[in-house]
Amino acid sequence: MSYQNIVAEHEDHLGFITIDRPKKLNALNKATIKELHDAFVTLDEDNDIRVIIITGSGEKAFVAGADISEFADFDAKQGKNLAAKGQKELFDLVAELSTPVIAAVNGFALGGGLELAMASHIRVASGNAKMGLPEVSLGLIPGYGGTQRLPQLVGKGRALEMITTGGMITADQALSYGLVNHVVSQEELLSFCEDLGSKIARNSPMAIGAAIKAVNANYDESVNGFKVEIAAFGNCFGTEDFEEGTSAFLEKRKPNF
Ligand code: COA
Repeated sequence: MSYQNIVAEHEDHLGFITIDRPKKLNALNKATIKELHDAFVTLDEDNDIRVIIITGSGEKAFVAGADISEFADFDAKQGKNLAAKGQKELFDLVAELSTPVIAAVNGFALGGGLELAMASHIRVASGNAKMGLPEVSLGLIPGYGGTQRLPQLVGKGRALEMITTGGMITADQALSYGLVNHVVSQEELLSFCEDLGSKIARNSPMAIGAAIKAVNANYDESVNGFKVEIAAFGNCFGTEDFEEGTSAFLEKRKPNF
């Protein structure tokens, strides 16, 4: 598939998506969100791809937010539709994907950019990254899941400070908040994420998908996460991956999933 606003590639078991609007600091317009949806679905459906790494092109920004120029004249109904459609099409899609997604946060991750990183399963930042939810400075609130996922990751007090000040935090602050898992240099960012992705890719894709679903259940009030875990645990038995994983252990060899 060919895209105008993103680049999607793959190598071995790793899929790569690069948001490619560097002149607009990779801001998420409608077309980019649609392309990201298509790329995530396509890579997720490819059984060879076991991890997806998402990043922004250029050295300045991961994503500087939703594209403000597209919604500046919206009314309340259009605003609601924008958030609902975006959450369904991209942010929830990413969070619920069975293929793990690593966000390589290579610069500004603001508004929808931080929300995209937070919807991803793992975040790694470069030292120059700056993160924030500046929506209140525009007379808005975060609409792509930010009011929900930020407190889940950093706690209510820190989330409310970030949201109400609209300020940016540094990569090191984000690390101390638990908002990102690692901070590395800009030059090392992609290779670090690739190494992390390769470690994940050695494990059972079936089990990884089930683990993501069970962890997500902890944040879904409509289900009991412990029960989801029990069911998902049980369903692993009898699968080819379970057979291979346990046989390999008993035969003292590496599993080949
Ligand atoms: N939507 C649309 N365009 C954006 C954008 C966004 N969220 N963020 C940056 N851009 C555009 C700028 O308008 C500018 O375009 P232009 O060259 O055609 O004028 C270009 O990207 C470069 O941005 P600029 O502001 O000149 O870069 P800077 O280095 O001076 O500042 C930021 C960088 C990130 C601090 C600044 O761009 C910014 O505050 N962006 C908006 C962040 C935001 O509020 N995000 C939440 C949106 S809900």
